[in-house]
Amino acid sequence: MSKTIKLDLSRSQIISQDLNAFSEELAALKKKLWSGEEDFTGWVKLPYEYNKNELKRILATAEKIRKQCLVLVVIGIGGSYLGARAVISALADGADSAPEICYAGQNLSGTYHKELLKKIRDKEFCLCVISKSGTTTEPSVAFSILKDELYKKYGREEAAKRIYAITDAEKGVLRQEADREGYESFVVPDDIGGRYSVLTAVGLLPIAAAGIDIEKLLLGAESIADKTSPVIEEDGEAKTLQTDEAALLAAARVSLLNRGKTVEVYEYYEPKLQYFTEWLKQLFGESEGKDGKGIFPASLQFSTDLHSMGQFLQDGNQIFFETVLDVSNPPGDLIVPESAGELLAGMSMNAVNQAAVQGVIAAHEEAGIPIIKLDIPELTPYCFGQLIYFFETSCALSGYLMGVNPFDQPGVESYKAEMKKVLKNR
Ligand code: PA5
Repeated sequence: MSKTIKLDLSRSQIISQDLNAFSEELAALKKKLWSGEEDFTGWVKLPYEYNKNELKRILATAEKIRKQCLVLVVIGIGGSYLGARAVISALADGADSAPEICYAGQNLSGTYHKELLKKIRDKEFCLCVISKSGTTTEPSVAFSILKDELYKKYGREEAAKRIYAITDAEKGVLRQEADREGYESFVVPDDIGGRYSVLTAVGLLPIAAAGIDIEKLLLGAESIADKTSPVIEEDGEAKTLQTDEAALLAAARVSLLNRGKTVEVYEYYEPKLQYFTEWLKQLFGESEGKDGKGIFPASLQFSTDLHSMGQFLQDGNQIFFETVLDVSNPPGDLIVPESAGELLAGMSMNAVNQAAVQGVIAAHEEAGIPIIKLDIPELTPYCFGQLIYFFETSCALSGYLMGVNPFDQPGVESYKAEMKKVLKNR
């Protein structure tokens, strides 16, 4: 339980003077973040202030879903889906007691949704539809298609018992429909934006339905909040920033950006982290990328992508730095048999994978690439809660340091408006 993620900046080319340059500003920004006075910072104190009754209702609803269906289709896009998918892909162990989780409304592909319908229509299924605005095109289209299927299979009355809605408390068509039809529903808090909402019902309900311990997830988040809060020590001094790795990461990334490193490549060696890096890309891309500023987030799965992108990383245009997500104790392992040859025989696969981690780091360091490393002790709800809160805090701080508002996304609206024009003119 006490296992903690650990930031390693030793190969980042960032030295303590670089970090110290941001100390005062970061101390002030942390106070701002924790003041409770900034818009969309409701997630900051969430691990301490989570409403116990809501948590109980989420757990009870998750239990009901597990009894009711073999497949739960989570309908949502962006911040209303990626956090849940990140945690479920990393931690769900396929236990019989948990439904299979499928996703809909995260794209507009007729092919994808047709295949999904084919896959689920003969199984007991439920829907969890998540949209803060209640008006986003992708989930609206998918929800209407899946609801039709649910009506055909169960009739309207029974279907309503199989639909779970997470949306605004008052606004939007989804709220009106949930209230009118009597769906079990939860609220997306007003003061929390999509990409910071994974530790609300938005993420917690699907994650709990998948059989993952959400109380441990929140405890993990709380353990990082303890370290990042701007607590004042007895002597009146704010805790040194050196103990707050989320703030250090923010300072390191902004220093690298100031040196012309405009791309950050998240690298992971456990495929279970694929959707976590998708969540990271949204978190950082949508928070920092505005007013002509920001670091472009990319992700690569290793060792797979070493055989496609390895050449560019080693030898190409060095516009980037790397952030390695290294899992010390992955959940599964196998022993390599004798037939693999002398070099590898008898080794655990994880040890071979770890040799790849170390070899790649050595080669890339040699090539002059700045490397940030995050050590993740294990893939558990507790460590995942830490990861989520750690990156949320660090991202908010780096956004502030870059001089942007890390909590809005004005650019996302532009394509939506243009797409609506195309639809109206058809
Ligand atoms: O982070 C965000 O704000 C976005 O990714 C939204 O979550 C996404 O566009 C979906 O919006 P909504 O929840 O209103 O359907």
